[in-house]
Amino acid sequence: MKLFLALLALAYVAPSTEDSSNWCYEVQAREPNSQCLGPEQWTGNCKGENQSPINIVIAKSKVNSSLTPFTFVGYNQKKRWIIENNHNTVTIPLNGGMCILGGNLPGRYEAIKLHLHWSQERNRGSEHTIEGKRYDMEMHILHKKIVSGDKVQDSNDKYAVLAFMIQVSEKMNEGFQPLIEALPSISKPNSNTALKELRLEDMLPSSEKMYYYFRYQGSLTTPNCDETVIWTVFREPIKIHKDQFLEFSKNLYYDQDQKLTMKDNVRPLQKLGKRQVFRSHASGRLMSLPLPTLLVPTLTCLVASFLQ
Ligand SMILES: *[C@@H]1O[C@H](CO)[C@@H](O)[C@H](O)[C@H]1NC(C)=O
Ligand SMILES: [Zn+2]
Repeated sequence: MKLFLALLALAYVAPSTEDSSNWCYEVQAREPNSQCLGPEQWTGNCKGENQSPINIVIAKSKVNSSLTPFTFVGYNQKKRWIIENNHNTVTIPLNGGMCILGGNLPGRYEAIKLHLHWSQERNRGSEHTIEGKRYDMEMHILHKKIVSGDKVQDSNDKYAVLAFMIQVSEKMNEGFQPLIEALPSISKPNSNTALKELRLEDMLPSSEKMYYYFRYQGSLTTPNCDETVIWTVFREPIKIHKDQFLEFSKNLYYDQDQKLTMKDNVRPLQKLGKRQVFRSHASGRLMSLPLPTLLVPTLTCLVASFLQ
């Protein structure tokens, strides 16, 4: 009987090597009895040459005058968005009516979803680092290229992710508050709730502060790590209060039993390799640019095509 049970146990833990749907972060993989695949074992394209996140070294980045400010369309909509704990982050699906253009993107990109990365401690929760500095959190807004008709889409510019560093400060960030207040309602994975009214624009730095950003070609930071992302990493961090920051690790769990706090949902840094990082203008110098960052309130993304 004992032998039989032992065999049964063996059969049960035998790793299903090719199943990358069972991926997890390092912090989860380190748990005793964990059976998920940590970052070193991620499959798909995760071992590619153009992976994300990276460390950004300003002195090695190249100023590029094509990197003009963005135009944000529909970011001012006030809506009761749905927020979900999807067992690796909290995510807000952004269905419809919001897009970005400009910033040397090859076309219009529709906002698909927003999510965050964080830790329980300071200086651990961002995925990208700038000059070796890790920030407290990082927010990603994933956009997908709008293509007309039946064009096949399988190129490295399929997605544009806007990445914002988040830094703890003394002040409450009112723009983030609807999201923060919803966290206790989505403690468990696969749960969701409706936010109080929230406007994405209110969560972003002011428009002049979004002039300065880095640009490089990379990947999604979760499996299958497709190398289809034009990355924009803004220099100016978003600031939130320490108490707001702590609400994430206080309320959210990776597992149904609420034993494993959701935190450190951060992929390790990847090699830059042959890639060049660009930046929108000289560091430290305030430039008057011919075009402001536009926050376009009206219309739909379809109509916005005339802005191009
Ligand atoms: C400017 O950046 C783009 C990427 O956004 C790149 O394709 C282009 O070669 C760069 N131009 C110069 C002069 O470096
Ligand atoms: Zn992300």
